Amino acid sequence: MNPSKGTQLVRLHRTQRTALPRLLGSLLLVTAAGISSVGAAPGGAAAHSGQASATAPRSLGQIVPAPAEVKAGGSPYTITAGTKIRVDDDSGEAWRIGTYLAGVLRPSTGYALPVTDRGGSDGIRLRLGSHDSELGAEGYTLKSSHGSVTITARGPAGLFHGVQTLRQLLPADVEKNSRQAGPWQVAGGTVTDAPRYAYRSAMLDVSRHFFSVTEVKRYIDQLALYKMNKLHLHLSDDQGWRIAIDSWPRLATYGGQTEVGGGVGGYYTKSDYKEIVRYASSRYLEVVPEIDLPGHTNAALASYAELNCNGVAPPLYTGTSVGFSSLCAPKAITYTFVDDVVRELAALTPGKYLHIGGDEAHSTSHDDYVTFMNRAQAIVGTYGKTVVGWHQLTGATPVAGAVAQYWGYDRTGAAERKQVADAAKNGTKLVLSPADRTYLDMKYNKDTKLGLAWAGYVEVQRSYDWNPATYLEGAPEDSILGVEAPIWSETVTNSDEVEQMAFPRLPGVAELGWSPASTHDWDAYKVRLAAQGPRFSALGIDYYRSAQVPWPAQ
Ligand code: ACM
Repeated sequence: MNPSKGTQLVRLHRTQRTALPRLLGSLLLVTAAGISSVGAAPGGAAAHSGQASATAPRSLGQIVPAPAEVKAGGSPYTITAGTKIRVDDDSGEAWRIGTYLAGVLRPSTGYALPVTDRGGSDGIRLRLGSHDSELGAEGYTLKSSHGSVTITARGPAGLFHGVQTLRQLLPADVEKNSRQAGPWQVAGGTVTDAPRYAYRSAMLDVSRHFFSVTEVKRYIDQLALYKMNKLHLHLSDDQGWRIAIDSWPRLATYGGQTEVGGGVGGYYTKSDYKEIVRYASSRYLEVVPEIDLPGHTNAALASYAELNCNGVAPPLYTGTSVGFSSLCAPKAITYTFVDDVVRELAALTPGKYLHIGGDEAHSTSHDDYVTFMNRAQAIVGTYGKTVVGWHQLTGATPVAGAVAQYWGYDRTGAAERKQVADAAKNGTKLVLSPADRTYLDMKYNKDTKLGLAWAGYVEVQRSYDWNPATYLEGAPEDSILGVEAPIWSETVTNSDEVEQMAFPRLPGVAELGWSPASTHDWDAYKVRLAAQGPRFSALGIDYYRSAQVPWPAQ
């Protein structure tokens, strides 16, 4: 039993203790300026808002995230008992993606859907090797007509994203695990698609509550459906250390025992972590591991007395305050510790990035913070990784190539915003995760059972309706690498609770990351989002049926 569940916990951000939940009315007045174009969704999605039936053919544009370009027309394609999934003979990745697609389609269609590398112009065709350089590494084209649907991409990630589009073009029932009636029609036409931003991320806090490998995989599958390409794992915090480190074994075996509310925690063995990385990579997501430093370290400080300035280990912590713990910046052993942890974690992580936290270090003096963060960044560089830090990193000296993750919100002061924008002008790249837009653990409204409200209530429109390119005044457009939707787990304890908070806001953040600014339009988006409702249900996702969205009747 987790006593924190269902109670309204307030994260004590020391600088934000006076933050009160905003009134919903004022939320709706704030819209990011500079949205470059507002218009109908591609493919005339709005015109199809009446399509409530789970089996009706869908318009090519009625998907999330909105594709870059849609040319609707021509005969639809129908998957039948005789359909084959045809892949290029020389590509292992296309074969693997074809097998993945078959795995999605077989249970609900009941068809055999063999994957074959025999040539043929009919069926579902997955082709690598497009020469269209505009598509980039993640783009694709999907052409649907009477005899075939063909997805073409330059690289496997593009092919995989095209397969996600195909899923969404089929009736929602296709996501079910048992045989459904069909028909399995894809409207005729062409989708040409590529992402707006290269960094489209979701974060799962596995520290405040621990999530099993199975639960993480389930979230990865949900992220993949919306073309996200990063999974940021918040692997350490005051309440639990979640990754085995051989050179400091008590971090996991002792510091991983607890979680918020006093329940049993847990940690990933190295093979668990590798399995998460492998699974994410099979869905074209890169894992960005975070060890939060120098604050948020009670679990580490409790595990090793020598990491504390006074040499005394504090008790394990299962509450929800922040800002009370700090590594000891003046001690040499602190950097041995950071070096060992970063070395082992970097060796386990094929991705480019390693996140070192840096937020809410309220128990570290400014000078110590700067000393510590600068040394920690150098250590990350030693092991060949690119530093990511929460935006407080810009108060130290971000190394060349560092990425700062902005998590401020409307009440964040001008000086703090300017510090981040100035760093961006100096070359620091930004990932945007404004707390009052993309923090999926913020309550939707006063009646939301789970979640927190220190950044205000975040309804579905508020979460979607802002423009990453213009959000942070003074930050150059080309400094924006992308967006992230974090979910902190003080109050969410399992997949079902994650999903109640993530859906339906997560697809909106995914759309901000993927879709061209020209498609950004709440009125069109809410109709496309509504059409996702039956898909969420078919996938067993218990989502929040926001009154802002015209969901089809259940
Ligand atoms: C944060 O929410 N403390 C990054």
